Amino acid sequence: MNKIFCFCIALLISCLSVLAQNPLHIPDTLTGPIYNLTVKDSSKIFFPPNVTPTYGMNGDLLAPVLIMNKGDNITLNVINELNVSTTMHWHGFHVSPQNDGGPHQIINPGTTWSPSFKVLNDAATYWFHPHLHENTERQVNKGLAGMIIIRDSIESTYDLPRKYGVDDFPLIVQSKAFDVLYQLAPFNSYDSIIMINGTIDPYLQVPAQVIRLRLLAAASTRSFNFGLEGNIPFYQIASDGGMLDQPVQLTRLRLSTGERAEILIDLSALQGQSLYLKSYASEFPIGIIGAAQVSLNDTLPGYYTNPLNGNDYNLLRFDVTAPTPNPVTTIPNSFAPLNPWLESQADISRDLIFSLDTLILLYSPVEGPFLINNQPFHMDSINIHSYLNNIEIWRLINTTDVAHPFHIHDIQFYILDINGNPPPLGQHGQKDVVLVHPNDTVRFITQFETFADNNEPYMYHCHILHHEDEGMMGHFLVLDTNALVIEELIALQEITLFPNPAADYLYFDTKNLKEKGDFHITLYNVLGQEVKASIRHEKEGILKIDIANFESGIYSLTIKTAQRKYQGKFLKP
Ligand code: C2O
Ligand code: CU
Ligand code: CU
Repeated sequence: MNKIFCFCIALLISCLSVLAQNPLHIPDTLTGPIYNLTVKDSSKIFFPPNVTPTYGMNGDLLAPVLIMNKGDNITLNVINELNVSTTMHWHGFHVSPQNDGGPHQIINPGTTWSPSFKVLNDAATYWFHPHLHENTERQVNKGLAGMIIIRDSIESTYDLPRKYGVDDFPLIVQSKAFDVLYQLAPFNSYDSIIMINGTIDPYLQVPAQVIRLRLLAAASTRSFNFGLEGNIPFYQIASDGGMLDQPVQLTRLRLSTGERAEILIDLSALQGQSLYLKSYASEFPIGIIGAAQVSLNDTLPGYYTNPLNGNDYNLLRFDVTAPTPNPVTTIPNSFAPLNPWLESQADISRDLIFSLDTLILLYSPVEGPFLINNQPFHMDSINIHSYLNNIEIWRLINTTDVAHPFHIHDIQFYILDINGNPPPLGQHGQKDVVLVHPNDTVRFITQFETFADNNEPYMYHCHILHHEDEGMMGHFLVLDTNALVIEELIALQEITLFPNPAADYLYFDTKNLKEKGDFHITLYNVLGQEVKASIRHEKEGILKIDIANFESGIYSLTIKTAQRKYQGKFLKP
């Protein structure tokens, strides 16, 4: 009832807003090495004379754009002047878990959090937002989000637009719902108001030359299908965490929540004209929030009356003015090659299955709650143990009716395939969010480099913020094997692994491990290829490994615990 009422008002507001056009707000910038961000309660007049309470960083909504260089040593002071706790996460950043700003790095009211680290990411467009357990949507929706631009020595060698606010523009694209009291309401179905950089119904004067747009899809749930009026082509040059190897010519670019892309548009021939950047949501397939139909089986309340769903709508009007001195006039041919890990390098492949939580009393196939590997998120359980420098393949399997933008902290990944097919060219580069459609399987490959910690986890989750808040999230630890003693089990073998040779079963006495807790056993054949075996508990501390189906030969096995890696060999006659 409450939701429906809010929705009617939101619709009314969206109709009125068409009357006024507003210059696009270009956020101020902050440069390092020290960034001060004051998070505070504020307010803003979106619909005069009504005052809307907001949150902002150094302002009344959103945040300054942070500009960084790869290799810089920086400190970010996040000063929490809210009367509630928050956190601040550097989305896409390769940082230690302590500096990540996930739900474990709480900033209490009246306190300051000051992570300090070296910027290790490649030139691209990143962002930051709160990540407070069960409160991410509320805080982001009320105004807490900002863009980060990283530059590096490779990107700077190309003839690209990079004059901020002149030929290089940040576009933080969001959709919001307002309730009867003109409050920003975190109800995902009624988000009928589009805001770019916090501006409703914006226009922007742009020079008649090649311009660069940094697109950040930062709505709480909605995906956008970017395109230019008249299907004017544009060129994608970067994905979430780095440049592509060459510009990809497109007329549409779909970004789901959390994703970024940088595009070039050649406006040289359009001086004096206006054109719209639009979202062509009518072209979305079923299952994407924003499509004409959200699912075959069910819908969100009020979904079809939200004018954004299934329709093409304007995002931003460009008014093309005279070129600047020394304009960029051409689209580059190519950039540095990409360097993805090879499938053959992978240490392990893991499955993450997305499903609907039907144990909850009030679940909905389109609203969730959703689970990953049948587990809801818990603040104190670890779902995945990985190891420093592990190269891993993660297979994301979506068994639900809606598409989920999957995001992982700490690393950038390369998509190996989507249902066995290579990803679209614009998704070949470094990514930290991938949209997994209903019934799809997406595989990516990555490496957990640089940072390991045996206690402090990183997060992976759906970036639809209420899915995340409702438990579609997990923890992974990157365990430290660098400092580990690599011990050969061979000396211990008689008492630890037996018998040797082993025909049908190999027994493993875990009591000889120097520490207790979780461990992983991996078996390899003589070629170093991983071989699978069923492993079961025989009796107290003894594991029974079924090798009856193994071909004869020499096998090795590794046992990784939180502290150590053990290796051993056995013969299957
Ligand atoms: Cu953009 Cu875990 O978040
Ligand atoms: Cu993140
Ligand atoms: Cu989701």
